[in-house]
Amino acid sequence: MFRLSNNLIGILNVLTFILSIPILCAGVWLSNKGVTECEKFLDTPVIILGVFLMLISLAGLIGACCRVSWLLWTYLLVMFLLIVILFCFTIFAFVVTNKGAGEVVSERGYKEYRLGDYSNWLQKRVSNTKNWNKIRSCLVDSKVCSTFAEKYVAVPAEQFYKQHLSSVQSGCCKPSTDCQFSYVNPTNWTATDVVQTNPDCKTWNNDPKTLCFDCQACKAGLLDQLKRDWKKVAIVNIVFLIVLIIVYSIGCCAFRNSRRDNAYRGKNGA
Ligand SMILES: *[C@@H]1O[C@H](CO)[C@@H](O)[C@H](O)[C@H]1NC(C)=O
Repeated sequence: MFRLSNNLIGILNVLTFILSIPILCAGVWLSNKGVTECEKFLDTPVIILGVFLMLISLAGLIGACCRVSWLLWTYLLVMFLLIVILFCFTIFAFVVTNKGAGEVVSERGYKEYRLGDYSNWLQKRVSNTKNWNKIRSCLVDSKVCSTFAEKYVAVPAEQFYKQHLSSVQSGCCKPSTDCQFSYVNPTNWTATDVVQTNPDCKTWNNDPKTLCFDCQACKAGLLDQLKRDWKKVAIVNIVFLIVLIIVYSIGCCAFRNSRRDNAYRGKNGA
């Protein structure tokens, strides 16, 4: 008997199964070859995602094509949980990224970032020393500040002040404007006698490995970047949720079909 929903679920799961193979390979590659701190962040989640996708695709595929009710049931249950989790995460992402923005400073092309402007939940994540040390070494590895230093090394002060900088560059690679340090080059500044109230001014160091990586402004700059990335992820999530709900509905039809078929076969003693 031709069952459209079973075939659709079968085809969809073949596609997701094929997709899970490169994801799994990427995860294994990252865990073996990933040298930088930033790559180490990713390998475990990527492997988990790959294995999860592979198992769930197999359950859906075998469940739909071979009419195995309990496999289809598991598949639908996991899909349902996934929809609920994704929905909650999307709402959470919008709430957490609602607060905070860079502050405009007069006569500067770039903005300054204050940790206090961002949501408490995000602040707590970056204020944890263990978390921050990992993020910090990832930032040092990623060379945001060394490429920044190379790009603007020959730029005179007045021109440097007019540049648009990314939030991470503004927060981590240069001292805060209110410190009123005098400019030598983008990552080399000398302190003046001005009274400083911002604790970040004492944290600043011209050593390329230190710079402002321990500043509150650096954490704020990172959160500003994160905020924008999460907004994008949340929007992609909404599209993904709609697709998942459609697949889930088709899966429900396939499940109903396989139960009906099993009941039919049972009644005829097959
Ligand atoms: C910063 O500039 C000063 C003055 O030109 C120089 O003496 C110092 O070595 C520089 N520091 C670094 C870390 O480049």
